[in-house]
Amino acid sequence: MVFPEYRPRRLRKNEAFRSLIRETHLSAAQFVYPLFVVPGKNKQEEIASMPGISRISVDKLAKEAEQCLKLGVNSVILFGLPEKKDAMGSGAHAKNGIVQQAIRELKSKTPELTVITDVCLCEYTSHGHCGCLINKTVDNDATLEILAKTALSHAEAGADMVAPSDMMDGRVAEIRAALDEHDFANLPIMSYAVKYASAFYGPFREAADCAPQFGDRRGYQMDPANVREALREATLDVDEGADILMVKPAVAYLDIISKLRDEFDLPIAAYHVSGEYAMIKAAAEKGWIDGDRVMEETLLSIKRAGADIIVTYFAKDMARLLRA
Ligand code: PBG
Repeated sequence: MVFPEYRPRRLRKNEAFRSLIRETHLSAAQFVYPLFVVPGKNKQEEIASMPGISRISVDKLAKEAEQCLKLGVNSVILFGLPEKKDAMGSGAHAKNGIVQQAIRELKSKTPELTVITDVCLCEYTSHGHCGCLINKTVDNDATLEILAKTALSHAEAGADMVAPSDMMDGRVAEIRAALDEHDFANLPIMSYAVKYASAFYGPFREAADCAPQFGDRRGYQMDPANVREALREATLDVDEGADILMVKPAVAYLDIISKLRDEFDLPIAAYHVSGEYAMIKAAAEKGWIDGDRVMEETLLSIKRAGADIIVTYFAKDMARLLRA
């Protein structure tokens, strides 16, 4: 059928038709909202490069969680800023570490909230790398044990799911084994399977105070130029026991999300990262774009590419817009 018999505009005539044939929908229940937890009391400090996002002390977390739940955002992912950092990142698995405290607080005050934890050492190491160093390089195998300990400490504190973001080889298997050995066989792993060495993480590194003190992360995070390698990374994580595969960042990597969607049957998550958020916020503040519409269009593009779950700093704003 061609013009003039076929006219695609017939079904674009009004919002009723448009919504009748809409192919992609956003749902607050599939958003994950990142929370940055800091030591101290009564703290809620906005992060300069991430307008609307704050670093929050443990005592104020429940209020934030209730807000999320009210909006239908049922999941959060936790990042911690420890009191002290050291070369081995030992704060990451401390029994009373900042994230462990946050998990206990949230699971006792808002048990219906799904608490996911980011498993990585970069916020806890004095040098800011995602693993421990041997001869000034991040040592893969020595890091695995620390990561497994960290994931286990999160599980013991009550986390609902762990999300390793370090990009060490073999970490999903190591974490799975540690969880299974300690009666957490039912705790799922959302693996940052495909994580690129991206400049879009800039604002996050300010927020979480985790910029590497020397060098960069290109020795463990992926080269932005690679697609086939992404499929290989994802295959490895599936074989090691990942339950959900994540792609990060999201918008500059929609092709990767789409490829993973085609190739794998596990749920796919995408992390719409700090820099991607900050760019929209900044342009909207200047009045150069309509912030709400660009937010919605951006999150839709991630969904359309094939992500089920979207980790996003826009979770609450978008949930509000969906209700309006
Ligand atoms: C590592 C981690 C990072 C992000 C999430 N987990 C930073 C990095 O790898 O440098 C970035 C998230 C964002 O930019 O929003 N723990």
